[in-house]
Amino acid sequence: MTKPSILGLSGSLRLHSASTAILHGLASAVADKARLDIHPLSAVPLYNADDDGEMAPVSVRELKAAILAADGVIIVSPEYNYGMPGVLKNAIDWASRPAYSSVLKGKPVLIITSSPGATGGVRAQIQVRETMAATLSRVVAHPEVVIADVYQKISDGRLVDAAALAFTLGAVDSLLAEIDLLAGRAADR
Ligand code: FNR
Repeated sequence: MTKPSILGLSGSLRLHSASTAILHGLASAVADKARLDIHPLSAVPLYNADDDGEMAPVSVRELKAAILAADGVIIVSPEYNYGMPGVLKNAIDWASRPAYSSVLKGKPVLIITSSPGATGGVRAQIQVRETMAATLSRVVAHPEVVIADVYQKISDGRLVDAAALAFTLGAVDSLLAEIDLLAGRAADR
């Protein structure tokens, strides 16, 4: 049986991003049960409805194709001024079209936020959840993964803290259960 494929989206473009490091840490930690590929958002232009549709920019079509092909998505976001970064909101906006029938519709999604501070990006987490509700994706309801003091939990560009990894891997199991459930339902149809 082929392993489920998960697409990782990081809300930060910077080279030493904690958000991206979380995805790298997860990619190796889940390797025995799923394939996690990180899709960079750096080439995605600012949303312009005039450019949307069949002839959307290549980077947008690639993002949508990657989401469509994946069994599930993991979004890892930092918190910028109590919300999600524009980079992430912009990518979700592109991927969310056409409204209510986009590649995100029905897609199992796990949301993770982190911060070098004590709040773990919880305010961004709420905002990402609200935005994903509009896409009709199937967001893992529990647990809500927030990782506080994230710089202390990363080494060599990956999440290594045992407790944070264990907690986050439990949430990835919930995502995989959702993927299995959907696959079972599809097979029963
Ligand atoms: C931040 N940071 C931040 N942190 C936080 O906990 N709450 C916040 O509201 C903000 N606001 C904020 C705004 C802007 C513009 C920047 C650049 C940063 C700090 C942020 O959590 C920190 O830089 C993270 O390391 C960013 O995530 P990456 O790039 O490491 O993934």
